[in-house]
Amino acid sequence: MRNVAADYPPLFGRYLATIDPDVGVVVEVVRREEASTPVAHRKVAFCVSGAIGYRVVADEHALSSISIDLERRLVTKHVAAYSEFGILEREVDWLRRLAASGIAPPLRSATADRLFLDYVGEPVRRGNLPSDWPVQAEAILAALTSHGCAHNDIKCDNLTVADGKIHLIDYGWATPIGQAIPAHWPHGIGRQHRLGVHRFDDRAAIFAALGSAERGEVDRSVVMGHNPT
Ligand SMILES: Nc1ncnc2c1ncn2[C@@H]1O[C@H](COP(=O)(O)OP(=O)(O)OP(=O)(O)O)[C@@H](O)[C@H]1O
Ligand SMILES: [Mg+2]
Repeated sequence: MRNVAADYPPLFGRYLATIDPDVGVVVEVVRREEASTPVAHRKVAFCVSGAIGYRVVADEHALSSISIDLERRLVTKHVAAYSEFGILEREVDWLRRLAASGIAPPLRSATADRLFLDYVGEPVRRGNLPSDWPVQAEAILAALTSHGCAHNDIKCDNLTVADGKIHLIDYGWATPIGQAIPAHWPHGIGRQHRLGVHRFDDRAAIFAALGSAERGEVDRSVVMGHNPT
């Protein structure tokens, strides 16, 4: 079998080898300056070599536009949808509070509509799930508890793995533990592993999510809308 990854710069080939084999990806060869152009509601990972840019546009439907610079290990998250709920400001606040916890991506900087984060790996799937995941799940829960944080949206696409370490990302809907979810927030939040609309249990959700990854039964459906049931 031909080794497709060998046709690309090593860094890009390594990235291709880490991504979920179930996700259909198309590699685009573009001009250097085009490689980093964000694509609405998609995740783009890129690197450049001389005048040429190599990039993958993932088929997943994110609420944000994500651009991953593989050379700088820099993630740019451009938040557009749901900005009226203050999700960017909330995420910045939680990322700062959790900075020393080791469970969340380091925040490099932020603007009014963008976050600049360290790259912390690919979403968890059967192929990259570390065997000690129950121990790592407990460590994530302990860090959330000690910082008073309820994440509320734990699912496989918000759990990433880099070098065998699991990170929890995407704190736009996190709340202080014990605080009620504002009634006007979208009803679709955390629907993969929640107890009910606006009823979340991070412990149940992280074990359900990672268990689904282990069984190869990841729920990747995205149904947000303003009030889907
Ligand atoms: N720091 C990071 N490191 C690695 N990958 C990241 C990082 N931040 C985001 N991603 C990737 O981009 C995807 C979308 O990012 P994120 O979950 O933060 O945005 P979102 O649009 O709020 O997502 P959702 O659709 O879950 O609401 C993630 O599933 C992950 O694959
Ligand atoms: Mg997410």
